[in-house]
Parts: sequence; C-alpha cells; structure tokens
Amino acid sequence: MNYYNDQSTKNYPHAFLNDVLTGLSRSERYIPPCWLYDDVGSKIFELITDLPEYYVTRTEMSIFHKISSDFAQIIGPNASLVEYGAGGAVKARIFLDAFIDPAKYVAIDISFDHLEKSLNELDLDYPDLHVHALAGDFISGTIQTNLEHETQRVGFFPGSTIGNLTDEEISQFLRRARNYLGEEAYFILGADLKKSPDILIPAYDDAQGVTADFNMNLLNRINRELDGTINPERFSHKAVWNEELSRIEMHLESLQDQTFEVAGQTFDIAQGDTIHTENSRKFQRAELDEIIAKNGWEMIRYETDQDAHFAVMLLKAA
Ligand code: AVJ
Repeated sequence: MNYYNDQSTKNYPHAFLNDVLTGLSRSERYIPPCWLYDDVGSKIFELITDLPEYYVTRTEMSIFHKISSDFAQIIGPNASLVEYGAGGAVKARIFLDAFIDPAKYVAIDISFDHLEKSLNELDLDYPDLHVHALAGDFISGTIQTNLEHETQRVGFFPGSTIGNLTDEEISQFLRRARNYLGEEAYFILGADLKKSPDILIPAYDDAQGVTADFNMNLLNRINRELDGTINPERFSHKAVWNEELSRIEMHLESLQDQTFEVAGQTFDIAQGDTIHTENSRKFQRAELDEIIAKNGWEMIRYETDQDAHFAVMLLKAA
C-alpha cells in the first residue's frame, strides 16, 4: 500500500483550535462538522449507522447492491475507484466486487489513522488491487496522486456527505473532482432526499441517545484537546428541521446561563442559545440535476429505493 500526504492538509490541531475559537466567538455559534469525527466520534457514528431510526446507511447500501452490476457494465474494465472521505471502505467493496478487473482504489481522508486501519484489511482481501491512501482535505486542499491514464477513473462520494457542504463547497468539490479525475471520468454520488420531518427528526435524535452522544462528544473533545472547561451536562443535543433551507441542523443547546474556557479564552452562553454543529441537507431531484449540470458533470443514472428516501447517481464528465 502507498501513502501520500497532501501539503495543504489542514494543519491539525491548530485548525481545530482556530475553528472552535472563531466558531464560538460568532453571534451564531458554529463549529464545522468535520470535528465530530475523532476516534471516539467515528466509533459513535458507526453505531448511528445501525440505529433503527437512521435509514440513511442501510437504504444507500440496498441501492448499491441493486445497481452495482449495472454501473459496472457502463463503467467497464480497469477502473480506478477514488473515494472521498473514505471512512471504513465498506461501501467501496460493493463496487470493487462488481467492477470488471478493478485496477486501483484511492482512499482520501482527512485522517491518516483512519485510513490505515481500514485499508490494511482491504489490501489483504484484494491482492490484485493497487491500494493508495491519501491524507488531505478534499474540499479546500489540492490533492494529487498518479491515476494512471490507462485506467478508467471513477469518483465515489457516498453517504450524503455532500449534504454537509455549503452550495459553494459543493461546486468547488465537484469541479475539482472533475479536473482531477479527467475527461472520461465517472462519478458515483449518494444524496439523501427530502422527506417528512416525522422520519427526519428521529433519524437525528434517536431514542437510545446515540446521536446525542455523537454531538456531545464534540464538547468532550474540546475539553480533551483544547484545554476546555465545558460541563457537558449543561448542554443538550437538539435536532432541528429547517424547512426553508431543507436541512437537519444539529445543535448543542445551553441549559443555563454559563461561562467556560477554551485554551485560556472565556466564553459566555445564555440559556437556550446554541452551538450549531452540523447541517445535513436533504435534496430534491431538480436541485441535484442543477448542481450536477453546472459543475462539470452529466447525470446518466438516478436510482432510488422504493420510498425515494435516498438517491444514488452515476455521473459522467461533461
Ligand atoms: C455522515 C454526514 C452523512 O448527515 O446523516 C449522522 C452525519 N450526523 N447523524 C448525516 C450524521 C448525525 C451523516 N453524514
């Protein structure tokens, strides 16, 4: 297995400190969702994917199983699969199994540790596959690795992680990916669809409180890594459906007027005020058509489950 490191990778832990200090200083407190995923957070997220209320992962996987051989026929032999934000590489296996003689798998993630564990196993299970790990920020960084030109390049961005990004970040991401993957590239994209808040709210505020733990871990992480003095018991997890922006928002709501410190700086927060920690946008077909067409891609397949809860798309470089 080969490892590459992107020079522009967010300079962690400095970037975490910076995002937290600026995020807590704003009148609308906001800490970007990438910081939810330390070792503890990533493990809690794995638990979320098995929750009865969290339809997202299981629905996407069922669509993958349904369409993987169709996509594989269109894509053809000798593919290089490039996964953005490759957590456990579990989803990639479905396509690597379906593809005809896959050549290469490139996993890009912000954290090296994360990549190393999941890719060592993949490497053993697919002896003919070239496995490359690339640590870098695929949203704002400039990633680079050799994708041999004789292979068929295929981008892969599952899980509806695209829903965490702003419009601007989505455009930047899709255009960069189009540039990086080149002329004949394909792209497999997963996106969660708009549906009743009766389904959405429980998916982000489950009965067992696992999503609450996931959100609250951010406070513990700030305490652990940034000399924070936050008492997590003075906050509670909140999932809000924002109809106007068609997104689920995760917040940490302050249960009382309070003061705490992070890295020697003092912050006040009033009872009922929140720290916004994640947006999870829910798309409609027409929006996806537009986003894709204006950022260098053509949609050639749009597949959903029976209830149209989730969409898996096959794009081709335009
Ligand atoms: C991994 C970003 C797709 O937005 O559904 C799950 C993260 N947050 N529960 C999502 C998440 C709360 C998840 N993504």
